[in-house]
Amino acid sequence: MKIIITDTYEEMSRAAADVIAECVAEKPDCVLGLATGSTPIGLYACLVEDNAAGKISFKDVQTFNLDEYRGLDPKHHQSYRYFMQDNLFDHVDIAPENTHVPNGFNPDAEAACGEYEAAIEASGGLDLQLLGLGHNGHIGFNEPADHFPVTTNCVQLTESTINANSRLFDSVDEVPREAYTMGIGTIMKAKKILVVANGEGKAEIVKKAFFGLVVPQVPASVLQLHPDVTVIVDAAAGALL
Ligand code: F6R
Repeated sequence: MKIIITDTYEEMSRAAADVIAECVAEKPDCVLGLATGSTPIGLYACLVEDNAAGKISFKDVQTFNLDEYRGLDPKHHQSYRYFMQDNLFDHVDIAPENTHVPNGFNPDAEAACGEYEAAIEASGGLDLQLLGLGHNGHIGFNEPADHFPVTTNCVQLTESTINANSRLFDSVDEVPREAYTMGIGTIMKAKKILVVANGEGKAEIVKKAFFGLVVPQVPASVLQLHPDVTVIVDAAAGALL
């Protein structure tokens, strides 16, 4: 595991964007696993800049996002599809049909998750998976549990997640109760993993996930067992290392 601590969020974002750009330069038709959340917004902005400057092209790249709310219209401003269009896809030369987000609009959870897992396999597998880190160590929507979920699956959101997310919706009733997420096994099959985290609120979990015991109660701790992981954190998130 390679750990890089940068002084600022901007430097973290630039360094992480460079890891992704290097992957695309080496393999122009690579398969990227992407994440939503506040952490990667800066690195997506760097990729948009690089694309505009002609330094990187997504022309032949395929992407698969980690997760999506179940039952939310992809056009809803809180859907992860909307987030990706807004922060990356609408601003780079990627082919729309090459961008994949779990189909939250398919109410048949088994079919939606099975099809997603199969599509990742059919693409040849993830060359690089980008991950943010939840305060409780979750990756994707894989929350602390007594086992590591293997494949793409449907999860029930916890009351605390529903309440936390309600600030982004008009009312708590609008917050989806379930989500589709890649499993820990799906993530671990990626050839390379890139984790980003910033801010002092992530310092404890960064230490616990990468230097603590490997247990499903801290889902990100499983990454210690992956052969090619790069963790890039800003000084605040790396303060306890
Ligand atoms: C996003 C995702 C989540 C986030 C995590 C951190 O697709 O799957 O696991 O990466 O919740 O979120 P932020 O970056 O908002 O702190």
